[in-house]
Order: sequence, then C-alpha cells, then structure tokens
Amino acid sequence: MRAGRSGMSKRRYRTPCFVMEQKKLEKNLMRLRSLEKEAGVKIFHTLKSFNEASLLPSIAEKLSGMSVSSMKEIRMAKEAKSEHLHLYAPAFKKEELPQLLSKVDTVSFNSLNQWNTFHAMPSKSSMGLRINPKLPLPIPDYCNPNLSYSRLGVDYMTFVETYKKNREYFSNLEGLHFHALFQSSVEGLRVLVEHIMEHYQAILPQLKWINFGGGHNFSDAGYDVLTFVDLMNLFHEHCPSIELYFEPGESVTKGCGDFITTVLDIVRVEGQNIAILDTSIETHLLDVAIVNQRLKVKNTQAFSTPYFYELAGNSCLQGDSIGEYFFKTPLNIGDEVVFEDMMAYSMVKMTEFNGMERAGTYWIKKGIRNG
Ligand SMILES: Cc1ncc(COP(=O)(O)O)c(C=O)c1O
Repeated sequence: MRAGRSGMSKRRYRTPCFVMEQKKLEKNLMRLRSLEKEAGVKIFHTLKSFNEASLLPSIAEKLSGMSVSSMKEIRMAKEAKSEHLHLYAPAFKKEELPQLLSKVDTVSFNSLNQWNTFHAMPSKSSMGLRINPKLPLPIPDYCNPNLSYSRLGVDYMTFVETYKKNREYFSNLEGLHFHALFQSSVEGLRVLVEHIMEHYQAILPQLKWINFGGGHNFSDAGYDVLTFVDLMNLFHEHCPSIELYFEPGESVTKGCGDFITTVLDIVRVEGQNIAILDTSIETHLLDVAIVNQRLKVKNTQAFSTPYFYELAGNSCLQGDSIGEYFFKTPLNIGDEVVFEDMMAYSMVKMTEFNGMERAGTYWIKKGIRNG
C-alpha cells in the first residue's frame, strides 16, 4: 500500500493496532533489573498497565515479581512464572479472598474496614495496609491518590493514631504500601521517604516490607539513579530488615510502542476539519475518555500550523473526539495517524483494567426479576 501522503509512517499494519518494539521493552527491563541490583530493592511489574501474555514471561524473568489485583491477574503472573506476587485492590470480596491469599506472597488492604474484616484470616501471605500519605505533589487530580478525599489508602494520620491506641490490632501487620507518585523524578521518592521517616518510626521495627508503589520515571534517561541508590541505601541502613518493593507500570513499557490508526474520511464542519479514524475512544482509548488527556500524535506540534484537525472516532457518539491537533503536513484519507507511546494502560483498558472480568449477562426468559 502507498505511504500516507501526509508524510507519516508507511503503511505496514492492519489498523487499528498496537505495535510494540520488543527490543525497547528488553532495554527497559534491563534498566529496571540493574536498578534492583544497585539499590538492593525488588521491582514488580504492575500487570494492570500491560498484560500481553506472550511478553509476560520475559518480564517475569527480568523482574522480581508482579503486582496483581485479581485471580485473573494471578493466573497470568503464575503462567509467566513470576516470582513474588503482590496483591492489592481497593476492595476484596470475602468469598474470593482466601483463594487469592493462598496464591500470593504479600497483600495490602486498602482501608481499616478491609483490615478489620480480613487481617485475622488464616493466610500464608504477609499482610499490609495501603496508606494515603497525602503528599503535596503536583499530580493531576484524576490520578492523584494523595487527595484528602481519595478512597485509595488509609489516611496516614488516622492510621498513626489508631496504631498508637491499639498496637495489638495491628500485631500481624508486616507491610506498608504507598502508591503516591505519578510520572515522578527521584524528587517525589525523596518526599515519600522523608514522610515515612517522619511519621512511622514507631511502626518500622515490626515491618518486613515497604511498597513504594508505582509512578516512578525509572526508564527515563534523565532519572537520577545515583540519588535513587543513595535514598535506598539510607533506608537499608536505617531499617536493614525491611525489604523495599516498587511496582511500576508505565515505566516498564515506556517508549516501547504506538497505537496506529487510519484516516477513513475528512469532513469539514463549520470551518473545522474533522478526521474520522478507524478507532473509537470507548473501544480502544478508554484512558483518554476518563482523563480527557491529550495524546502524543506523530507529525503534530503544539503551536499553530495551517493543518488543524479534530481527530474523531468512528462511532455514533458525538463525544467520541480525541482532541484537536496541529499537523505539520496535511492529512489525507488513507493516511496513518500514529499515537505514540501507548503500550501502558491503553491496551489493558480495552477490556480488563485492574484484572477485572467482563460483567456477566443473564437472559431472563420467563417472568420478571425479583429485587
Ligand atoms: C496501586 C498501584 N500501584 C502501581 C501502579 C502503577 O503506576 P505507574 O504506571 O504510574 O507506574 C498503579 C497505577 O495506577 C497503582 O494504582
């Protein structure tokens, strides 16, 4: 097929499709592995960000484990032969938890309610709590777990107070989990480490692990590895018996691949060019829908060019719009439009974010549903 006349990438794939360069994934994994070694920490791949089954064994081989949220993700991690499994979800179902716990090494509960209900459950896995450290970091609201009204994690002041009053209640607490950063340089981690050193001195001696969550820009060339190693060494010196975990998602597949679409039509409405692509936000780009985020589109620039297009989905929803972009060259029907760096979250969100199963369907043939 011909190359797109807009000068964008030559047509090689049946679109819409995600295209990953495995060498780039290997490069990221080697970097993460060397960070583990240099800093004496364990890095887990967060399955909710990327769960392509054929590539998970390679990830499992390089990293120390996987962070999972459901039985489905546990199965995938086990099939890939991942070592350590860490389990976390905002809430667990009572009837499912014993099975989940029998298969993972560590677990964090998200609330004191969940701790209360589950911490005494017989289990071989080491139990922890997710804390909201309320760090004052510049993170967009939609993904900021530090907000005072966030449902993600126990408010750190409530936890510290409750612990002071009733240590017995936390006698089998072995880990704390802080997922508080987002696309962060090492400075975010420094703030988190300082927070832990300041507020948890009474609790640290009983802990076996601390999970520093995701949100670390580990695979950026500019990430300050020396400071990272220093910070971790500081921690090891202070608490030599605590294992330190990280569970990045985005930085595992960062820069490894794109989402490629084709322009099906260009309509001009009230002076605006709208390019209709062979995709739809609701089908392929749910992360765009939830955060209304701007994507990195190849052959575009931030400032004004004459080639200004709204990119729209091929669905019947008026709101199926991927935003307006300035292209460097005109778009034509049949051109490819390439969304860059899309391996994390977009693929998984098409069907199974956080390891959630599809909702079931029941067809009631006779009568009406009770309740
Ligand atoms: C609890 C938890 N851990 C880890 C991650 C991975 O974060 P990131 O992809 O920003 O590294 C997420 C992402 O949402 C998360 O919710």
